[in-house]
Amino acid sequence: MKTLILVFLLALVPCVRAQQVALITNTEGRKTMSLDGQWHVIVDPYESGYYDYRYQPSDNGYFKNAKPKSKSDLIEYDFDKSATLKVPGDWNTQTDQLFFYEGTVWYKKSFDYQRRPDTRLFVYFGAANYFADVYLNGEKLGQHEGGFTPFNFEVTKLVRDTGNFLVVKVDNKRRRDAVPTLMTDWWNYGGLTREVKLIETPATFVNDYMVQLQRGSRDHVTGWVKLAGDKLTQKVSVRIPEAGVTKTFTADGSGLAAIDFNADLKLWSPENPKLYEVFIEAETDRVRDLIGFRSIETRGTDILLNGQPIFLRGVCIHEEAPLRGGRAYSREDAVTLLSWAKELGANFVRLAHYPHNEFMIREADRMGIMVWSEIPVYWTIQWENPATLENARNQLGEVIARDKNRAAIVIWSVANETPLSDARLSFLRNLISHARTLDPTRLLSAAMERHYLDDKTQMIDDPLAEYLDVLGCNEYVGWYDGLPEKADGLGWKSKYQKPLVMSEFGGDALFGHHGDALTRWTEEYQENIYQHQIGMLKRIPFLRGTSPWILMDFRSPRRPLPGIQDFWNRKGLISDRGERKKAFYVMKRWYQELQERSRM
Ligand code: GCU
Repeated sequence: MKTLILVFLLALVPCVRAQQVALITNTEGRKTMSLDGQWHVIVDPYESGYYDYRYQPSDNGYFKNAKPKSKSDLIEYDFDKSATLKVPGDWNTQTDQLFFYEGTVWYKKSFDYQRRPDTRLFVYFGAANYFADVYLNGEKLGQHEGGFTPFNFEVTKLVRDTGNFLVVKVDNKRRRDAVPTLMTDWWNYGGLTREVKLIETPATFVNDYMVQLQRGSRDHVTGWVKLAGDKLTQKVSVRIPEAGVTKTFTADGSGLAAIDFNADLKLWSPENPKLYEVFIEAETDRVRDLIGFRSIETRGTDILLNGQPIFLRGVCIHEEAPLRGGRAYSREDAVTLLSWAKELGANFVRLAHYPHNEFMIREADRMGIMVWSEIPVYWTIQWENPATLENARNQLGEVIARDKNRAAIVIWSVANETPLSDARLSFLRNLISHARTLDPTRLLSAAMERHYLDDKTQMIDDPLAEYLDVLGCNEYVGWYDGLPEKADGLGWKSKYQKPLVMSEFGGDALFGHHGDALTRWTEEYQENIYQHQIGMLKRIPFLRGTSPWILMDFRSPRRPLPGIQDFWNRKGLISDRGERKKAFYVMKRWYQELQERSRM
């Protein structure tokens, strides 16, 4: 157990160079100060705020936030006279000038902060797309790669009571060796896309913890608590007042306490998303969290929630803001999207293709919606590149760190539609074993592709499936592959005795665009696809879940068709303005059927 926890924490350190503190995963009950709001920005396509004219990193870059000290001083930028952008928020939808912009934008926020004695202070970012260099008062704190996971830096020694300036260079340029790589089917929204805040902690504090049911158990809680600071060998207790639980453990010299106890708990499920108030208490600190307890496992081709076979009635969701477009980030966005999924009859969502914001996960926890969480190992990643692997491992580590105590998360997905090769297989196997080491309690999957065994049979025999718990498969019969009725004659086979989630299917339709059932882009064509799809899906004996592509239309630079797409992928069952398309009701009817049957 101790080695497992050490592996867990060390997995999170490489990306932050300044102060070696793991991700602070829960700020509930901590003294925090939000830095959200308007930030001054400098758009810097040539990165002249970072490099000198010899393209060498300059010691005198924009991170110095310099001001002329005399009339003769030469300073060629001034944050305080520059435009502002709202944080959290992508830059693309805040001003038309930046709609297609991919490059560097410098952000500056000034603030005062009186730190209480014997405390530590951290600056926390919910996410920054894609590469962030972070400075406080002209000093480099560190950098972070990956646009969809949180990171924090310690600023205890650098912060002053007044006149602090936090400067972040955010660069969303796509790179071949990055994760995701050059080609995706979603908008590359850049910026400080999620909340930024200061977090104050005691000198020795509860840095991280995992409190979950042991895999396959419905009453045995296992996990750990990790303290950070100088007084590490402390008593640590886990309290669940409503369940009459108070358990005390002793942290070792590294501040690590393994926890292990039995408890009689009401189990979390979509029907009853029970969350318990849980207190993690040390002598010098205490955090409160809302945690649900449930077991998730597979048995043959079944998926078992709390020991009972379950069908995952799902839908895919991109982190596109409902009704306004742009990167979604707020609790309201999450509630809107998840309420639409519930209206469809879903008890499950596939959050594609990257970790969504924490509000999404915590609302899913509260609303009783199971979650497939995925990292953006999407299409053709640079499999042979060790730095790309390290980057993917880090993003996986960060999302598991943030969400490991959320009952809603049932599946970690390590990839989407990746081409078969030995390099790809070893890359993804590495991620799978990393995830299993970090979190032995959840299921592993990936969205794979299928091939035709013969013109009537689809086959799932991707070698990757050997290492997964749940098979994910994307198919577009009726859209990229033939016409809708083609699904009628198709059967499915799998090389593996494992449950299948059909992780994508569907087709495009512009809301309000009507015609006959074979006219592309019409609601009738999309409806036609779904009617034939459902017929085919019902015939797959090992199917245990579906997540059609996709709940709501979303922006994509790969979709320019004028008057129809206009840079929107129109495969939503709901338009970007919240209008339900005909296919929405076809899916809803089937999910109602399944729900009634599951109640029987
Ligand atoms: C792919 C892919 C999605 C994409 C969808 C589409 O399967 O996984 O990211 O948006 O198909 O083509 O609409």
